[in-house]
Amino acid sequence: MQNLIGFGKDTDPANELLKSFERRFASSPRLFRAPGRVNLIGEHTDYNDGFVLPAAIDLYTWAAIAPRTDQRLRIYSENVDESAEIDLHDSAAKGKDHWSDYVHGVALMLLHSGISLRGADISIFSNVPVGAGLSSSAALEVSIASALLGIAGSSLALVEVAKLCQRAENEFVGARVGIMDQFASCFGTSNHVILLDCRSLEYKLLPLPSGVDMVICNTMVKHDHSSGEYNERREQCEEGVRLLKQYFPSIRALRDVTLAQLESNRTDVRHSSMPDLIYRRCHHVISENERVLRTVKALQENDLVTAGRCMAESHLSLRNDYAVSSCELDIMVDIANRCEGIIGARMTGGGFGGCTINLVKSDSVENFQQRVREEYKVATQLDCEIYVSRAGAGVTEITSVG
Ligand code: GLA
Repeated sequence: MQNLIGFGKDTDPANELLKSFERRFASSPRLFRAPGRVNLIGEHTDYNDGFVLPAAIDLYTWAAIAPRTDQRLRIYSENVDESAEIDLHDSAAKGKDHWSDYVHGVALMLLHSGISLRGADISIFSNVPVGAGLSSSAALEVSIASALLGIAGSSLALVEVAKLCQRAENEFVGARVGIMDQFASCFGTSNHVILLDCRSLEYKLLPLPSGVDMVICNTMVKHDHSSGEYNERREQCEEGVRLLKQYFPSIRALRDVTLAQLESNRTDVRHSSMPDLIYRRCHHVISENERVLRTVKALQENDLVTAGRCMAESHLSLRNDYAVSSCELDIMVDIANRCEGIIGARMTGGGFGGCTINLVKSDSVENFQQRVREEYKVATQLDCEIYVSRAGAGVTEITSVG
């Protein structure tokens, strides 16, 4: 979905969406809201059963919904001023490479898990920038899942909602994403980052250090997950596991491999040689998992220097070994690293464009923003967008507006 149209900057999106829904569908809806996310560290580790450290942000997708008497979903997107219709009886439906696929996929997965859905009129609005690596897709999926469950009078454990939304994206939309985004959109907690073990789905909340802000800088160059590069990285990791398994049969995912094992596989002549490309992909994932755990320890000890160093190493690894950065992301990180008050800077999300995440000392945030804007414009001729976000709450029903 693209952000083409929307509500005025100074209006309350929830209020505007309700008013617009009432005009369009002549009924009073319920309102659900799910956030986007930013990932502090742990990139491309989720689908390798590894560790991630995301937070929900205060950018959201809102879904207004009222039941219908038939089995159709009529959805209107305020962002693109476009409607779509879905027939809930059509269980063989296929994705159409359209924003409504996210809604359709979630509805089908809910039906497959035995939920009796009702037809509904739905309006959606999102201020999560699309294609910016801030999980506009997960925010849409999770808001829709909650809205559909809400009017069906059903509930599911939040972790099941996250898994079901991931399945919708994997199986219906065709992007083989991991669980991080949907999990963060469900479990976001104010002022906390989430350390998630993507194998067990156990998680721990860590407070963000005081006096530090999360500053998200959007390069304004969009990515597209379904473009194939993302799925290709995932296949390369699977190939790495297949090759390593011959020598370390107990491993199930790159999560189980140490750097020493990876190196021994590369240098031991008895072992089949691993292509350099696969080696580098594995090296990123294995070292990134270590960096997540080092960052967590550093945050717990208020050691911001080490946390910042881990972020810097993560960016280099994503750029050099995993090859998912872009020229604009590298420029943005370089600029950030030269600013006063910077603790750590790296690309965030899937890559190939999108945003950087910066931990910045609170008293330097104003100057930081100004300098990044100016220098990025000089270097790229592009106007970037900057969001200073608190870590926010996960999906919720909004019961009072205005
Ligand atoms: C996208 C995917 C996530 C994760 C990140 C990279 O955001 O949706 O599952 O793989 O890329 O860390």
